[in-house]
Amino acid sequence: MPKVEIYLAQSLIKDDMTFKDKNVIIIDVLRATSTMTVALANGAKEIIPAESVSTAARIARGSTNSMLCGERGSKIIEGFDLGNSPLEFKPEIINGKSLIFSTTNGTLPIVKSKLAKSCVLASFLNLSKVIEYIKNLKEDITLVCSGKLNNFCLEDAVCAGVIIKKLLEEDGNIEINDPEYAALELSKLFVLKGNKILPEKILELLKISEHGKYLSSVGFKKDLEFCSKFDTYPFIPMYIKGAIRLKEKIEDETNIKAQMKKIK
Ligand code: MLT
Repeated sequence: MPKVEIYLAQSLIKDDMTFKDKNVIIIDVLRATSTMTVALANGAKEIIPAESVSTAARIARGSTNSMLCGERGSKIIEGFDLGNSPLEFKPEIINGKSLIFSTTNGTLPIVKSKLAKSCVLASFLNLSKVIEYIKNLKEDITLVCSGKLNNFCLEDAVCAGVIIKKLLEEDGNIEINDPEYAALELSKLFVLKGNKILPEKILELLKISEHGKYLSSVGFKKDLEFCSKFDTYPFIPMYIKGAIRLKEKIEDETNIKAQMKKIK
């Protein structure tokens, strides 16, 4: 029987061994996993997550065709090319580039997933696609809410709760426990009506959330609207060997390589 477990806050992650051999789904609705999904969908070659500003700068020194991206206190880091607003990641700016990315919350659990069996990024922008991916996987999964400064945050828990709801609809025998029940109930309270997600409720949720209110107060109100748009970026960003790329592109390249081998 597949099991679903959830980390409701980063403070619950012990060390790099925590996610060893697990199938991890990282969620940071506001805004890291939303923005990274948009960046890859808009043509970035890859995203290299860095846990600190100095690590990001060091990686950038040894790379070509790259841009430094990320935030502290939600604002662009001094000397970086882009911040962490999904609206900044336009195709004409990032096409073909390696984006070296460092954010306060979302980047950290990604880096801590280096020993995971698999690691994908989820947000409301690509939620149905991620749910489909998990259903096809048919294995135990670990949902990780990036939260805010090591603490719980509402929007990530609700997003994870929707995943749990959809998995339970398919297989009522999936094993869940107290934290998973809590996320499930929160998703019912805020964005679900029966088995339907109400897209207009996502924006309401983001507006009342602590980080949503903070983002609005520092000039990123439009990002809440953007990050609330359900299923608008149906892609699976996947973290493999230190870089995040779209699963769809990785598969295309593997197919092309296999074809080329046959031709040779
Ligand atoms: C993060 O990863 O810390 C967040 O996405 C912060 C932000 O809103 O920029």
